[in-house]
Amino acid sequence: MRRKWVGGNWKMNGSRAMTSSLAGAIVEARINGVEVALFPPFPYLREACAACAGSRIGVGGQDLSEHESGAFTGEVSAAMLRDVGCTLVLAGHSERRQYHKETDQQVASKVSQALEHGLTPVLCVGETLDERDAGHTAAVVSRQLDEVVSCCGIEAFARIVIAYEPVWAIGTGRCASAEQAQEVHALLRSQLARDDARIAGSTRIVYGGSVKPGNAAELFAQPDIDGGLIGGAALQATDFLSICAAAG
Ligand code: 13P
Repeated sequence: MRRKWVGGNWKMNGSRAMTSSLAGAIVEARINGVEVALFPPFPYLREACAACAGSRIGVGGQDLSEHESGAFTGEVSAAMLRDVGCTLVLAGHSERRQYHKETDQQVASKVSQALEHGLTPVLCVGETLDERDAGHTAAVVSRQLDEVVSCCGIEAFARIVIAYEPVWAIGTGRCASAEQAQEVHALLRSQLARDDARIAGSTRIVYGGSVKPGNAAELFAQPDIDGGLIGGAALQATDFLSICAAAG
């Protein structure tokens, strides 16, 4: 039985004060039966880690460098995230792939850096609307997943969370239907199973894209949907907590 996982990706939102109060409210709710992680912007990681200290809520960065250290102005390394108390990190979010032209190879290197430094990578995959309309969904997500399997090995998926986030559903209010999401999750799991059935059975594959309190329960009831990566609805404690409750 896979334990459900819910992450809140705050994207470029918030402030120090908001981080302390939102993370504090989530900690105080004492969520049970679900693994929860928060991904605030880099400058607020310390506030989030302080608010979550001693709780079971994990804190992670929204991105990391594919490099170890050195002359990479503006980048943040896996070791630095560990140093401030993070235990997780997002890799390959579609906004990074789209606006910062991150390639599948770079995303795989980021996952590898995260693993090397003991962070849980949350590997984001997903197709654009054009790709879906052209019937390329399966090919796109398989390619994105395959690059990480080739780079890091199938055993690494014992420590990786996969987030399926169709680009057309992110921030658009247009959530994938439970059936559409389930179909892609099952495909990703069967791709892993070709290499290792046991690992495929234990890897958490969560859904992201316009998850709200009203649609979370139906999504999370699907056999291959192990929780969610939440954007907009993660910025309000009541919404985020009710999504966590739907996963519990
Ligand atoms: P929304 O929930 O705002 O659609 O964002 C999803 C997402 O990108 C989470 O990483």
